[in-house]
Amino acid sequence: MERRKFLQQSCKALLVVPLGAGLASCEGLYYVAEHSYKDGVVSIPLSEFEIVKEGKSKKRKFVLYKSEKFQFPICVYRTGKNEYVSSLMECTHQGCELNVAGGAYSCPCHGSEFSTQGKVLEGPAEYDLKTFETKTDEKNIYINV
Ligand code: FES
Repeated sequence: MERRKFLQQSCKALLVVPLGAGLASCEGLYYVAEHSYKDGVVSIPLSEFEIVKEGKSKKRKFVLYKSEKFQFPICVYRTGKNEYVSSLMECTHQGCELNVAGGAYSCPCHGSEFSTQGKVLEGPAEYDLKTFETKTDEKNIYINV
């Protein structure tokens, strides 16, 4: 199945989701519960990526963070063992909120797609997503917003 069709079909249900809840994923959405903010930097504990179910531990691929500074959430995507990319979920074409699905971001408005690094994969969007400097240590992720 063509990637674009897969994304459209697998997230078709999102079209009926009420406004403001448009960001969705086939993996399930998780907005960070624990975080702090100081001097323009958001700290999110790495434990926010952990899922413990029936005694087994697993890591989420991404979490969402809602900043008062932006209309749309920031998606913090785990791209490597200790590597994260934080992208604003605002499509650079005409400003729709993006969905997270199939290891990419897709726009429900006109079909643009972006990599989890925030790069345009498919138009009509011409510009990459706004991304934020993101660092980690052994306990936290730090996002410069
Ligand atoms: S607003 Fe996203 S593709 Fe047009």
